Amino acid sequence: MTDQLIIFDTTLRDGEQSPGASMTRDEKLRIARQLERLKVDVIEAGFAASSNGDFEAVQLIANTIKDSTICSLSRANDKDIARAAEALKGANRARIHTFIATSALHMEKKLRMTPDQVFEQAKQAVRFARNLVDDIEFSPEDGYRSDPDFLCRVIEAVIKEGATTINVPDTVGYAIPELYGNFIKNLRERVPNSDKAVWSVHCHNDLGMAVANSLAGVKIGGARQVECTINGLGERAGNCSLEEVVMAVKTRRDYFGLDLGIDTRHILAASRMVSQTTGFVVQPNKAVVGANAFAHASGIHQYGVLKARDTYEIMRAEDVGWTANKIVLGKLSGRNAFKQRLQELGVQMESEAEINAAFTRFKELADRKSEIFDEDILALVSEENVSQHKEQFVFVSLSQHSETGERPQASIVFTVDGKEVKGSSEGNGPVDASLKAIEAHVKSGAEMVLYSVNAISGSTESQGEVTVRLQNSGRVVNGVGADPDIVVASAKAYLSALNKLQSKADRVAAQG
Ligand code: KIV
Ligand code: ZN
Repeated sequence: MTDQLIIFDTTLRDGEQSPGASMTRDEKLRIARQLERLKVDVIEAGFAASSNGDFEAVQLIANTIKDSTICSLSRANDKDIARAAEALKGANRARIHTFIATSALHMEKKLRMTPDQVFEQAKQAVRFARNLVDDIEFSPEDGYRSDPDFLCRVIEAVIKEGATTINVPDTVGYAIPELYGNFIKNLRERVPNSDKAVWSVHCHNDLGMAVANSLAGVKIGGARQVECTINGLGERAGNCSLEEVVMAVKTRRDYFGLDLGIDTRHILAASRMVSQTTGFVVQPNKAVVGANAFAHASGIHQYGVLKARDTYEIMRAEDVGWTANKIVLGKLSGRNAFKQRLQELGVQMESEAEINAAFTRFKELADRKSEIFDEDILALVSEENVSQHKEQFVFVSLSQHSETGERPQASIVFTVDGKEVKGSSEGNGPVDASLKAIEAHVKSGAEMVLYSVNAISGSTESQGEVTVRLQNSGRVVNGVGADPDIVVASAKAYLSALNKLQSKADRVAAQG
């Protein structure tokens, strides 16, 4: 008998709740495909009842992904649960994840319910869900700050009603590894039917301990499911990071003694896809997927690694998808080579017309940049995805002038609902002038809360990838744009953020 650790990815649900990280249905499907390639056991595809968009995304993913279990979050009421079951109809394996808060603070201040009412509602929700699908996960929200006696009572009852997974969230990231591990252990020991369910950990990273807490929940508490997100994406300081928790369990198998179904070679591509889609840049010193994670800058380290790599390396870079930053394609590469590389990168295009359009953009890029890396192709495909969705604002061309001692000027041409418009402005720098030129025409009134530039493949010949975060009327969105010219990349990112601001997003908050 193997002792398997279930990896439950919630990038598309809890990750997406991070302000600015909202994704389109097609972006979610692309990420779900990458998660399937990674052999994630359970994909939490969304919160079906929160909006029509989320319902459609869960449905599309359930109808398409065949190897992973597809899960939808749902509040503990019949209406939400029925909606989740409806969205999951096409799944090979479906799970409903229902939750209700159990901490005194949340019950009293947020739900305005008594513990007895919460107890009854939790039971009723699981009973209702169990009639619709077999695989039911129950989460007592803010579980770690809940009274253990009450928690034991609720958990015993929902297992009796048919819950198959019990997840104990540290919703606000308050836990300490040893305490959280013992908290789970104690619950498992005290709940009489605890052996009838798989126990799961779900940790937020507010104190930077989400991964450590999750691992303690596994090692001390005996949990056999970890809930996590790619790059640790998530509200506030994020969730437990999939790549870190997976590589910790794999690298220290001597300590954890657990098996994983994950194909770790697809980790880096997943990280890049999530970062490029959401505009949440990965910090260079981030474990496993950061640009410096396997870079040995110090002379002593380089010497050691050259002699015997295990002097300073505890993981093999290639095991998580790093390859030597080789030139993959160039100006002379043909359509077949391009198509094959897309397949190797796990990018699926719906039609030959889409491949042709992406290939044309690739050729345009290859004319301006002699070496095309995987990162360039992924950025290009992200943009291709966007341009196909008949966005309201689409970049056409830009010219700008800057000279020492003079105020920079920019003129931009873009389309608004297919009609070409022009704008010009001065600014503090060429980027500022270009974005002001757009704003002069659009007059969105949005506030820019973040602007960042990242070199996609490291050198000055690289494409610049720009993220722009805009805030307007309480909504926060991220736009991403890539181009060898960072002023153009900035304009594209700004237009992409404006497009997202235009799209309606009437959602019910998961923790609202
Ligand atoms: O953090 C949390 O409590 C959650 C629940 C909805 C599981 O995300
Ligand atoms: Zn959460």
